[in-house]
Amino acid sequence: MGDHPGNIYEPRPVSIHRTLPQIQDHRLFQLQLEDGSSWADFGHQPGQFIEVSLFGKGEAPISISSPPTRLDSLEICVRKTGRITDSLFEMGKGSNLHIRGPYGRGFPLDDLKGHKLLLVAGGLGLAPLRSLLLYALDKREEFDEIILMYGTNNPDNVLFKYELLSFFDRDDIKYLYSVDRDDEGIWKQYVGVVTGLFEQTIISPEETYAVLCGPPIMYRFVLQKLLNLGFAKEHIYMSLERMMKCGVGKCGHCAIGNKYCCTDGPVFCYTQIEDIEEAI
Ligand SMILES: Cc1cc2nc3c(=O)[nH]c(=O)nc-3n(C[C@H](O)[C@H](O)[C@H](O)COP(=O)(O)OP(=O)(O)OC[C@H]3O[C@@H](n4cnc5c(N)ncnc54)[C@H](O)[C@@H]3O)c2cc1C
Ligand code: FES
Repeated sequence: MGDHPGNIYEPRPVSIHRTLPQIQDHRLFQLQLEDGSSWADFGHQPGQFIEVSLFGKGEAPISISSPPTRLDSLEICVRKTGRITDSLFEMGKGSNLHIRGPYGRGFPLDDLKGHKLLLVAGGLGLAPLRSLLLYALDKREEFDEIILMYGTNNPDNVLFKYELLSFFDRDDIKYLYSVDRDDEGIWKQYVGVVTGLFEQTIISPEETYAVLCGPPIMYRFVLQKLLNLGFAKEHIYMSLERMMKCGVGKCGHCAIGNKYCCTDGPVFCYTQIEDIEEAI
């Protein structure tokens, strides 16, 4: 968990600084603290999440999408799916809400530093991975080669489109992307599932950490691919999602076998969960 000087349950007042539409029903919210403190004091790490609290409505866990190297605002990318997210989408610039956190274990930065990174994201899974990706790009000298593989179901569903396109102007990140289907025949790149992208680049498993986030089906196939390539299980990390309530290890809603997704995760090393049947 982050640095909680006081009560870990305490919701902190924030306001919406900007909302940026992404794709249909997905929006990026830039948040500002209303209590005069800085996001540096918030102490978030890539891979952690917050609980978005709307008084009188409830709370929803949402990944932090921005890295601690960019402290102008805290960014969350939200899909409109139900009670809380519907209400959030009705709010605009200047609206007030509360957040709790930061919560959970993020990506193991100390282990990742000095190594090659292979980030594999599917759909909204890019939201938590983006915090690590931008962190690594902001501290580029601390990491070796960076490869991002991103798959979406169709060309209209690419999140952070312009940010991703800007990676083509850089020679210090390799960005490979795929769409599952291209019914209109407009996609000029790879059509097929994200694992097909492994054929398009050379990966050296012993020097690389793989980090995955996406829909459950993606993990199954990507894990198989990584193990076949010779990745050690210790070099594979993934961010998991479960239904949550408290977010701080008290209610048991988010149990994955004998682990809590909120406090033992949401980022897990494959070795921690490989024996838990329902984990993936
Ligand atoms: C650690 C973590 C990080 C998350 N990060 C993000 C994020 O960055 N952006 C984002 O849009 N969403 C994220 N989610 C999912 C988000 O918390 C849920 O979609 C949440 O239910 C939305 O609240 P709601 O009240 O709008 O929808 P609800 O009315 O609660 O539910 C809408 C539908 O989603 C289902 N649902 C609820 N929780 C989950 C879940 N965890 N996984 C799958 N289905 C669920 C419900 O059963 C229901 O069918 C994250 C969840 C977790 C646990
Ligand atoms: S959400 Fe309550 S224990 Fe994890």
